[in-house]
Amino acid sequence: MEIVITGSAREAAIIAADAFERLLWGADRAVIGLATGSSPLPTYHELIERHGNGRVSFARTRMFLLDEYVGLDPEHPQLLRSFIEREFIDQVDVPANALVVPQCAPADLATAAETYERRIANAGGIDLQLLGIGRNGHIGFNEPPSSLVSRTRLKTLTTATREDNARFFGNDPDMVPHHGITQGIGTILEARHVVLIATGEAKSEPIAKAVEGPVTAMMPASALQLHPHTTVIVDEAAGQQLRHADYYREIYRNKPVWQHF
Ligand code: GLP
Repeated sequence: MEIVITGSAREAAIIAADAFERLLWGADRAVIGLATGSSPLPTYHELIERHGNGRVSFARTRMFLLDEYVGLDPEHPQLLRSFIEREFIDQVDVPANALVVPQCAPADLATAAETYERRIANAGGIDLQLLGIGRNGHIGFNEPPSSLVSRTRLKTLTTATREDNARFFGNDPDMVPHHGITQGIGTILEARHVVLIATGEAKSEPIAKAVEGPVTAMMPASALQLHPHTTVIVDEAAGQQLRHADYYREIYRNKPVWQHF
């Protein structure tokens, strides 16, 4: 696990976008896992800008969404699909139908998880999975406790997560769905490169526990310690509880140029 402590959310976004750019230049048909929430937004903005400058193209990519709410109207603006289309997909050259999301309509629910896993596998697996982290250490909607080998499935959202996400629902937690379909932790761990972004003081505790604490189903992001290629990018505020911060800075300062990510 590589820990990168940056001076700002903007700098974190630039480093994450660099990982995308390297993948897009190197892979013929990159498969990308997208996360929603506030943390990845600066990265999407940076990628939109680089696309505008002709630096990156998503024309030959496939995109898989990390998770989706269950129980919202198909036209609801806060469906995570709508969010990612609005904030990113519609502003770059991702081909029509290249975005795959879990199917959450009542008629699809029984088979949605299995279908989603199959579609990821048929695409050849995910090359780069972008992640945020919840206050309670969740990744996607893998709330604690989440089996560390879990696959895509339905999860019940915790009250804390529904309160945090209420800001997207007119600040009313009662409007936030109780359920979501999420890639499982085992699914996420199969991505070839995982990039987790966390900014702001509220993320300092889950980041310290996920990076330096025990691997446990009660802190789902700690499962990334088992992944061979994870990059955790934090700003100073989110990194402030890391006990070995000086060492992580030293590693990054002295990183061989050929090592990239
Ligand atoms: C949500 C999403 C996660 C996201 C997390 C943190 O519940 N399902 O994918 O990482 O919240 O969001 P934010 O980055 O807005 O703090």
